[in-house]
Amino acid sequence: MSQDPFTELKNRQREMWASFGPTALFTTPVAGHVVRFAGIVAGETVLDIGTGTGVLAITAARRGARVFGLDLTPELIEQARENAAIARLPEINWKQGDAEELPYPDASIDVVVSQFGHMFAPRSKVVVSEMRRVLKPGGRIAFATWPPEHFIGRMFAFVGRNSPPPPPGADPPPQWGNPALVAERLGNRFDAPFFERGVMKFSALSIPHFRLFMERSVGPMQKLVESMAGDPEKLERFRAEFDALATPYHFDNAIHQDYLLTRAHAA
Ligand SMILES: C[S@@+](CC[C@H](N)C(=O)[O-])C[C@H]1O[C@@H](n2cnc3c(N)ncnc32)[C@H](O)[C@@H]1O
Repeated sequence: MSQDPFTELKNRQREMWASFGPTALFTTPVAGHVVRFAGIVAGETVLDIGTGTGVLAITAARRGARVFGLDLTPELIEQARENAAIARLPEINWKQGDAEELPYPDASIDVVVSQFGHMFAPRSKVVVSEMRRVLKPGGRIAFATWPPEHFIGRMFAFVGRNSPPPPPGADPPPQWGNPALVAERLGNRFDAPFFERGVMKFSALSIPHFRLFMERSVGPMQKLVESMAGDPEKLERFRAEFDALATPYHFDNAIHQDYLLTRAHAA
């Protein structure tokens, strides 16, 4: 019996993100920005959705928050646990689970955060409803996303064009980087959102160094390149297009990638 298409998609995503660990070196500084932007203070209850190796959850816990970290991918939760032990923050509660079915009670969280995480849940309506459900009255959300017009947004669109189509009804992740659409999605369940931007830098000695890193550590790229292994010409064309896409963002030995931050209080 075949599974529903969203379950299949999430099973693929779970496998795809397992190699993400080394990329957290570059998302670590962003986590400092998100925690400051979210205004997290000691004693607050914080949920980090799509925690990966735990960079945002651990940064919030260092401020004295009581933190829950959730991710679809068990390999990354294991790394998050190791990171928390190194940071001497063993009390963070880690769980494997889905942003579209949060395993937490209604009205139990002060701040729901996500850094390039909830944007990968396929149904924006479901994830907004879940984030709102777990928030206490007066609680807030704060998240970082990739804008569609900048490098990573364009890269995901490019990878998407070369991959099997997602199920009908799945929202493309970089739509979460469009402020007008974000405001529409939060609708009347949240007050009008506040936005800010930042730049994430990926160290890259050359474009091919950067591409190699992405092919090894960013699941959607990795899977796509694996699927072209039997067609060297296609792979070569794909790589040339990728390099052309990345080139304008490469200067001072880094790829510069803008991100969008959104903050909103529960209405
Ligand atoms: C780009 S990584 C970001 C990880 C981390 N927040 C960081 O900034 O380093 C995306 C993460 O979202 C997780 N993810 C994707 N879909 C998810 C879902 N439906 N529910 C929970 N986590 C999900 C992936 O497993 C992965 O860890």
